[in-house]
Amino acid sequence: MHRNPLLGETRSLPGVRVCGVSTRDDSDKQGLVLDRVMLLGRTFEEYLRYFAIEPADWRGKAILDVASGVGSFCAEANERGWNVRACDPIYELAPADIRARCEPDLDHVVQALQGLSTYRWDFYQTPERLRQYREKAYRTFLDDYERHQGIRYVAGCLPKLPFGEGQFDLALVSYFLFVYEDLFAYEFHRESVLQIMRLTRQEARFYPIVSFEGRRSTYLDRLREDPLLRHLRFEEVRTDFEFLINSNWYLRVTHRPERV
Ligand SMILES: C[S@@+](CC[C@H](N)C(=O)[O-])C[C@H]1O[C@@H](n2cnc3c(N)ncnc32)[C@H](O)[C@@H]1O
Repeated sequence: MHRNPLLGETRSLPGVRVCGVSTRDDSDKQGLVLDRVMLLGRTFEEYLRYFAIEPADWRGKAILDVASGVGSFCAEANERGWNVRACDPIYELAPADIRARCEPDLDHVVQALQGLSTYRWDFYQTPERLRQYREKAYRTFLDDYERHQGIRYVAGCLPKLPFGEGQFDLALVSYFLFVYEDLFAYEFHRESVLQIMRLTRQEARFYPIVSFEGRRSTYLDRLREDPLLRHLRFEEVRTDFEFLINSNWYLRVTHRPERV
């Protein structure tokens, strides 16, 4: 049984399974401290930067955005003729229920980020510009979601997703695994990686791979050394995008060729 810390969402997001209360001591933390997963969305442009995606490599391929939430990658990519689907537990919900959650989460995070030493502002410059990106993402998502709920947007909750084996060429996971390592156990990460690789023919990319403190996730080495994951190859790839400190890396996971 996995605990899913979508804390505090019982009232505004009926139907989403909620459990897990953090009792950890956060007094030594310098970065963003969150006791639940936030409904915050990124844009197509940010995904291309996070995952160093070369459009020519992936246009026409089947792509799954996992834990996609209120991000607009799926909407904007399909608008450009890409073949992208998105999966998140919130897609059980009506658009109005999701909409009600977007603004309070965004307010909370934009306010909480200010003054933290764990962010570099070269790209966004100001909290207002960051907010514009996030608003663009959730508004674009909501418009698309109203038209494509249940088709492009499929309800699903890691570590078990409702897709067939090898259905996608590429899976992307942004701001869910690794960064929330305080809230999710190692075993949840291992099973999630296994599940995502079951659906993925070519590769999966995970970003960021640091905690909100900007520290490389302690789960990365455990995954590499885990005997249950021997058939997978893990590669940390450098990028030139960094907002959360040390987040200029993504994790690429591929299938090792079978031994003859
Ligand atoms: C911070 S948001 C990231 C959204 C998007 N990937 C982006 O970067 O814009 C984290 C998302 O993880 C989703 N989530 C929480 N628990 C999950 C689970 N067990 N399986 C899949 N997604 C989950 C939340 O609903 C939320 O939409």
